[in-house]
Amino acid sequence: MTFISFEGPEGAGKSTQIGRLVQRLKVQSIPHTVTREPGGTPLGTRVRDVLLDPELTIDPLPEFLLYSASRGQLVTNVIRPALDRGEVVVCDRYADSSLAYQGFGRGLNAGLLRGITAAATGGLWPDLTVLLDLDPVIGLERAARRGQPDRLERADLSFHQRLRQGFLQLAEAEPTRFLVLDATLDEGKLEKMIWEAVQSRLPASQS
Ligand SMILES: Nc1ncnc2c1ncn2[C@@H]1O[C@H](COP(=O)(O)OP(=O)(O)OP(=O)(O)O)[C@@H](O)[C@H]1O
Ligand SMILES: [Mg+2]
Repeated sequence: MTFISFEGPEGAGKSTQIGRLVQRLKVQSIPHTVTREPGGTPLGTRVRDVLLDPELTIDPLPEFLLYSASRGQLVTNVIRPALDRGEVVVCDRYADSSLAYQGFGRGLNAGLLRGITAAATGGLWPDLTVLLDLDPVIGLERAARRGQPDRLERADLSFHQRLRQGFLQLAEAEPTRFLVLDATLDEGKLEKMIWEAVQSRLPASQS
């Protein structure tokens, strides 16, 4: 019934906030399905392994097509059926990630990406997209604190700046769909703001 995606860079707090949102949905006995990209289906899981295999070199377009394959299957097998059952669907990353990473980050043509995305998803877009916006320098510090200083290397900083600007541009173009939040805010505060936005999108019977 209501489709919610979470977007933002690595370490922005997507998993943290999805966990908190799911807890709230459970407490309210609101039927829901939680899934993620890439993955969420047997095909998606295998595609995920391919995408994350450090031994493979994958060019930007084939990379995008792999994400699209995973996404298409996820929509057909998981997201659409759950929405049809009247559930809230929470997805950790969705098509905006591709538009940001492969479009703004890797420079693929936005029209091409949107056309293939529309074909793969049947034009399904979330009702709400929570963008956890984070300065890449702070992302770098968070990664370092987690003892993974190489995860977001300084050499990649300009890529991550483009990514951030890309996400913000997507949000600016669709202010009704997007909720842009400062990912450095307190976790509990973010949880509250997200819950308010989710409630405002639930059908009257669930909110
Ligand atoms: N609001 C916050 N303020 C400070 N630190 C936070 C906040 N939210 C999450 N963190 C911390 O940041 C780190 C990354 O959080 P999390 O795993 O939720 O991010 P993510 O967006 O899911 O990352 P990934 O893209 O790698 O899956 C964790 O150590 C978490 O405890
Ligand atoms: Mg995560």
